[in-house]
Amino acid sequence: MGLIVKTFPKGPLSENTYILTDERTGRTAVLDPGYCGEDILSAMQDDTHLSYILLTHGHYDHFAAAEKYMEMYPSAIFAAPAKEKYLLHGGRDNKWMALGKGTGVCPDAGMLLKEGDTVTLGETVLRVIETPGHTEGGICFVTDKEVFTGDTLFRLSVGNTALETGDRDTLVRSIQDKLYELDDDLIVWPGHGAATTIGHEKKANPFVQAKQKSAPAVLAADGTEHIGSGEFSGRDDLIDVIIPDSVREIGMRAFASCTALENIVLPSNLRRIRKELFSGCTALKKVHIPDGVTDIGEWAFRGCVSLEKVIIPESVTDIAAEAFLSCPGVTIIAEKGSYAESYAAKFGIPFKAEYV
Ligand SMILES: [Fe+2]
Repeated sequence: MGLIVKTFPKGPLSENTYILTDERTGRTAVLDPGYCGEDILSAMQDDTHLSYILLTHGHYDHFAAAEKYMEMYPSAIFAAPAKEKYLLHGGRDNKWMALGKGTGVCPDAGMLLKEGDTVTLGETVLRVIETPGHTEGGICFVTDKEVFTGDTLFRLSVGNTALETGDRDTLVRSIQDKLYELDDDLIVWPGHGAATTIGHEKKANPFVQAKQKSAPAVLAADGTEHIGSGEFSGRDDLIDVIIPDSVREIGMRAFASCTALENIVLPSNLRRIRKELFSGCTALKKVHIPDGVTDIGEWAFRGCVSLEKVIIPESVTDIAAEAFLSCPGVTIIAEKGSYAESYAAKFGIPFKAEYV
């Protein structure tokens, strides 16, 4: 079960108006209501429950028929981007786009959407991400399988940034930092033109390339045995890090507050995870603690809000009570029957026996 998406590329300037229907419940939304015609109305049966009229940004070609839908479905909620007020109320470019057919002013929204908001359509949840650049307040809607990108990202192209409130650098950042971070398999349903996928655009879009991930930084020369307390603390340029196997000891807070650090390969000779070692590493996702480590110190992972997995070997027989303080998404992965399993149970941390 999922979302049924029907495309009507019939809005002004061939804008794509989408009809979204949650397969299990029949709940329906119209997204970017630039067009309303017989074909759409016959596709929406009499018993269609139109729950939402959704808007990605404040250009006239995307909202031209919003008022018509609102009149026909008075219980539907018109939800528009919170930061798009200027254009929604008739910016200069919208008057131009109205081509004499309207005022370029959008009807008032019943719901204003911002980053992280969700719209629930039956069993489908559409998550809002803010993607400024084509316009200052543009948003995209993301589900498990698709993303509706408005005029931010097109198949092998991107939205115009020369119109009012547009900005090229901001658009590139929105695509690289928000859209290209989504799963490659997600279908991209754009505001104009054919559908594509995130993976295809990352590979082939000539306007915005995916960010090159830099090679992991190897910290400390091979042969080094000791990394000092606080030695790399606060470095915001470290993303992927490898520590040479010769290192046996890493001091307290050695990587504390390395806010960009995502992955670290720890040396196989390490014996202890010292106090506050990764405290405040807010981007850290997964840590594999090497076999041979015996204890994990107080606040070792405090505030690692992105931490998803910590793999803990059987050699660990002592973990401090607050080692994982403020790690809301962490799962401990270890052998069944290990000390780590009983620790996880004691402190209510999710546990999985998938030790590899
Ligand atoms: Fe637009």
